[in-house]
Amino acid sequence: MGFSVTWSWFGVLLVVLCMGEVWCDCTEEGMEIQGGNYFLTKQLRSGSVLVYNCSDNYFPYPHLTRTCQLDGTWRPPPLVYPPQKCKMVECPDPNVLEYGDVNPPQRKYYVGNVTTYECYSGYTLRGSGSRVCLSSGKWNGSFPICSRDSGDACLDPGIPPGASRKGNTFGIGDSVTYSCNGKWLFLVGSKERVCQENGQWTGRAPECYYKHTYDTAEEASAAFGSAMKDTLFTLETSNVTQAGKTIRISKGGILDIYIAVDISESIDEEEIKAATDAVISLVETISSFDVSPNYEIFLFSSEIIPIVNILDFLNGSIESCFTVCLDSTDYNTAGTNLKATFERFLDQMSFIQERTGAEAFKEHRHVIILFTDGAYNMGGSPDLTLQKIKNLVYMNHIDGSGPNPREEYLDIYVFAIGNEIFDDDLQALTVGVGGKHYFRMEAIEVLQSTFDEMIDEGDLKGLCGLHKADDLEDSKRKMYPWWAYVAVKQDTQTFKCLGSLVTPRYILTAAHCFKDNSVPDDVTVDLDDNTGDKGKKVVDIIIHDKYNIRGREDQGVKEFYDYDVALVQLERDIEISKQARPICIPCTEETNIALKLPRKAACSEQEKLLLKDRHELLHFLSKGKRELVEKDAHVKLGDARQSCIEHALEAENIITTKDPEVAVTENFLCSGGANIHHISSIACKGDSGGAVFKNYKRRTVQIAVVSWGSKFMCSGGGAKNSDANSRDFFINLFKVVPFLKSTIGNSADEGITSLTFLD
Ligand SMILES: *[C@@H]1O[C@H](CO)[C@@H](O)[C@H](O)[C@H]1NC(C)=O
Ligand SMILES: *[C@@H]1O[C@H](CO)[C@@H](O)[C@H](O)[C@H]1NC(C)=O
Ligand SMILES: *[C@@H]1O[C@H](CO)[C@@H](O)[C@H](O)[C@H]1NC(C)=O
Ligand SMILES: *[C@@H]1O[C@H](CO)[C@@H](O)[C@H](O)[C@H]1NC(C)=O
Ligand SMILES: *[C@@H]1O[C@H](CO)[C@@H](O)[C@H](O)[C@H]1NC(C)=O
Repeated sequence: MGFSVTWSWFGVLLVVLCMGEVWCDCTEEGMEIQGGNYFLTKQLRSGSVLVYNCSDNYFPYPHLTRTCQLDGTWRPPPLVYPPQKCKMVECPDPNVLEYGDVNPPQRKYYVGNVTTYECYSGYTLRGSGSRVCLSSGKWNGSFPICSRDSGDACLDPGIPPGASRKGNTFGIGDSVTYSCNGKWLFLVGSKERVCQENGQWTGRAPECYYKHTYDTAEEASAAFGSAMKDTLFTLETSNVTQAGKTIRISKGGILDIYIAVDISESIDEEEIKAATDAVISLVETISSFDVSPNYEIFLFSSEIIPIVNILDFLNGSIESCFTVCLDSTDYNTAGTNLKATFERFLDQMSFIQERTGAEAFKEHRHVIILFTDGAYNMGGSPDLTLQKIKNLVYMNHIDGSGPNPREEYLDIYVFAIGNEIFDDDLQALTVGVGGKHYFRMEAIEVLQSTFDEMIDEGDLKGLCGLHKADDLEDSKRKMYPWWAYVAVKQDTQTFKCLGSLVTPRYILTAAHCFKDNSVPDDVTVDLDDNTGDKGKKVVDIIIHDKYNIRGREDQGVKEFYDYDVALVQLERDIEISKQARPICIPCTEETNIALKLPRKAACSEQEKLLLKDRHELLHFLSKGKRELVEKDAHVKLGDARQSCIEHALEAENIITTKDPEVAVTENFLCSGGANIHHISSIACKGDSGGAVFKNYKRRTVQIAVVSWGSKFMCSGGGAKNSDANSRDFFINLFKVVPFLKSTIGNSADEGITSLTFLD
């Protein structure tokens, strides 16, 4: 980042005049801004950027930043007139509407101003009838268009606020061109659109941006998300008709994703962290799809700092080390070399082509995602390299020879971020048809939520266990969208348990939550899923047929919790949303996909992956006084198990046998103890029936159900740690698969979503 290319040559000349004995620092004289303040990226040394800062709904005018040059002057130089000040954020002029009225008519529109639109008689309105000017410098909703049926092939494409349009006929082959009015606005999107035979305009409606206009996280998320989803879904599966039957098959295409993040000087360490977090978020979000892309990830400044090498994916040597590698890089953040960045893309693509051969390379789709402000002070323009990349990809797809247009094989998305963004240069680097490819972001911090939110839950109904990573603002619901609250009435009392949504119709919980005489009407389920429907109606309770609490009374076990699992059938399906989504359960195909195992991988593969350590860290939830808390449980496996279950014998009020295995069968997992390296929380009464789970990236898999504990330690509530002797026992779902399968498996009732269990 820093200064643009022409300027750096000027800088080189000044070195001669100003370095040597004399060090020219800039001064702060005359740098004030009316109504705001500023900060310096490198004090008053050359190369330092002075960044103006205004309060919300204001922006620095006429400049956003100034740069300290080698000769000790600022560029651009501070002026007396116009003085540097904080101006109110404006939205572009909506009075460009044809065949309609804009109310109220004003010369300028500021944040919070509301406009309404009405069409002349005979014309109908498309777009929003009322819009509010937002602090991002944009109007909400979509721009209004008043049109009447003219018999033309295409509909009137309208005029976005702040723009002018040339071209007023909308027949096939007709084109319209747009420009933005005044010197402060610039165009983002398609400058020219052509009416096609299918009645659609090419490209997408342009927008006029000021330098202070940004895409909000929600906008970027929706636009980028839908574009990426198109790509991902294309690769995922397609419908093929065979012998009159439609089946879904994988197209077998290959997706190569290149991610490059500019970390040059004006971005500080925290911002680098935010950018890398965003990249992790992006990769994890993409991983929720049934697609395994190859990744190239690197940071760049004057040089390339590789993080993940796509060639390693090609030779299958790694799944990769995103998180670790991104955290441990030493950065040199001087200078920006965008050309080297594009050369890296080109080199890697050429390698891949060489390695796979031209025929196989045809199957590759390339998505480049670039984060930068677009200022390059080294290496020169990347334009020529970009052209070579296009040639490399497009030459394999001479138009008309394949099933898809060649443009579908290369997408370049640019997320422009920085104090001073070089919009024209950056827009020229975007490539791809259809959706928006250029995003202008206010701060790097919003990127993570952009990528977190880009999945529209409705599209991903089949994905079990998908959740948000860390949901500080909202309720915890999005982190645990499967969590359920099960209340069982008995006489005048209500007993509370937890449960988990395992299909849209079924809740998994503990059998001991119910009494012998409990009937569905005694039971309500609450998902807290924002539907306002508190107690969801229950129509059936299915208890494991081998569960019998008095089954081993004669062997010295007063309460015997083996097979302590039950399924509760709801009257209606839960609507899948961010707040409500089933958790993954063992031995299903759905879970293989979540764990990135082959679809038909054996159940034992899942077990190997999920329960591999002697002290495997799992989690369960507890409903505290105020909110849900996540607790840790280190379950003891292998040779650590025996000494764990022995402490069951200390539950003297229910166990009198001397053989722990009489009470704790192999169906239980055991957690607890006071090993300082593996501190476990203790389960409390109301935690019964809750899921014991493990997160695998963005997906959650339930491994067990909270059943019973050897010691009551929860008076007073809250999260308590286990002591040396206390133990909790969970029913291991891997041991009750036939029960699960018989109710929610392949052969379940028609019309009710079921899971595909593995053989
Ligand atoms: C911008 O100014 C506000 C107060 O005017 C201050 O709280 C904030 O920290 C400033 N931001 C930066 C990045 O200096
Ligand atoms: C438009 O917004 C400005 C700034 O907030 C405010 O002063 C003005 O009254 C608003 N105009 C209307 C018509 O609401
Ligand atoms: C714009 O925002 C206002 C206020 O938040 C809201 O009432 C209105 O419905 C929004 N309009 C559109 C089209 O989203
Ligand atoms: C494939 O078929 C399913 C079910 O018939 C349908 O919902 C889906 O939209 C189809 N997908 C495509 C890409 O045609
Ligand atoms: C595969 O990747 C590894 C790890 O980078 C590398 O050492 C090896 O040379 C690569 N193999 C081939 C055939 O390129």
